[in-house]
Amino acid sequence: MGQWLEPSRRSDVPPFMVMDVMAAAARIEAAGGHVIHMEVGQPAAGAPKTAIVAAHAALEAGRIDYTSALGIPSLRARIARHYRDAHGCDVSPERIVVTTGSSGGFILAFLSMFEPGDRVAVTVPGYPPYRHILTALGCEPVLIETTNDTRHALTGEALLAAHRKGPLKGVLVGSPANPTGTMMSREALAGLIAAAEDAGIRFISDEIYHGLDYAFPAVTAAALSEHAVVINSFSKYFCMTGWRVGWMVVPEILVRPIERLQQNLSISVPSLSQIAAEAAFDGAAEMEEIKHGYQENRRILIEGLPKAGLAKFLPADGAFYLYADVSDFTSDSFEFAKQMLEQAHVAATPGLDFDPIHGRSFIRFSYARSLDEMREAVDRIAHWLK
Ligand SMILES: Cc1ncc(COP(=O)(O)O)c(C=O)c1O
Repeated sequence: MGQWLEPSRRSDVPPFMVMDVMAAAARIEAAGGHVIHMEVGQPAAGAPKTAIVAAHAALEAGRIDYTSALGIPSLRARIARHYRDAHGCDVSPERIVVTTGSSGGFILAFLSMFEPGDRVAVTVPGYPPYRHILTALGCEPVLIETTNDTRHALTGEALLAAHRKGPLKGVLVGSPANPTGTMMSREALAGLIAAAEDAGIRFISDEIYHGLDYAFPAVTAAALSEHAVVINSFSKYFCMTGWRVGWMVVPEILVRPIERLQQNLSISVPSLSQIAAEAAFDGAAEMEEIKHGYQENRRILIEGLPKAGLAKFLPADGAFYLYADVSDFTSDSFEFAKQMLEQAHVAATPGLDFDPIHGRSFIRFSYARSLDEMREAVDRIAHWLK
């Protein structure tokens, strides 16, 4: 084969190990086994009925066309209203950008905010695509470890210490976070944003798990700074992963550059998904019931896992994740997850996906499925660890 067919170096991003767990689980299921899926970060429920009805009506009505690059105006206005209703904060619809999930939001944010070679801080443990997308775009992810002492919140001091070692152009944090499920308090978030802005470091807040907060209410960075870039999505709270629709709140100065990027990169977000997303806001009652289910699942795990033998985990503040320290049992969480799957038929994700430094000591449980499955999972793990 000619060398001209060689893939680019920037495309050489690591795969997701969870995919290997899913493939192993599928093999067990094909052989008749019943696996409890706690590896996938995806709600078991579907989109709210209001969204489905609106999508059906749109299909019946006829054409599904391109929309304006920044999104359907009524959806942008509805999202702006959400900030008033949920956070008591005024955000102009002009500052809302509809995106292809939050994943599309990261690409638009990084392209509009950073140059190739810029250093951008992300936390470990953390959601792997943050660093992989930055790398693919030619930026340099700078990994900052968070610890239990701060509920895994990045602090202003830690950020500035990294900035002194090598100047940072930006920082990205998520709260509630994946994989830890921990959250930043209002003070922690406000302190971090202030420290970043004083040092000229641009701030990005991944708020995809907003709405799924149990320990205390999640605070939006949009309420704390007009300069912060907020990224959110319909994937998690609204259970609309496959619809691929999300949004950003951006400072005014970034609106036009992002519009130009979106025009060129994707023209627009799928219009059917935008129509469904707007109607999803009317399905809040249905979504609150689902959230209540997660809350019950969380209770079962917090009470049950210690009795089963897994007593060390981070505060499960929000999202639908519990990050458990399995270092009493193994120095290789990948092997631990593999054996738990093969012998107990419970699938979870090894921490190495999220943390190249300490991930061998952790596994992530996702509790977005049914209460009965959570009870069964706790029983199986207890029996397996005996
Ligand atoms: C922290 C975090 N951010 C972003 C995403 C991407 O989600 P989407 O592109 O579906 O909005 C995920 C998905 O699991 C996530 O966990």
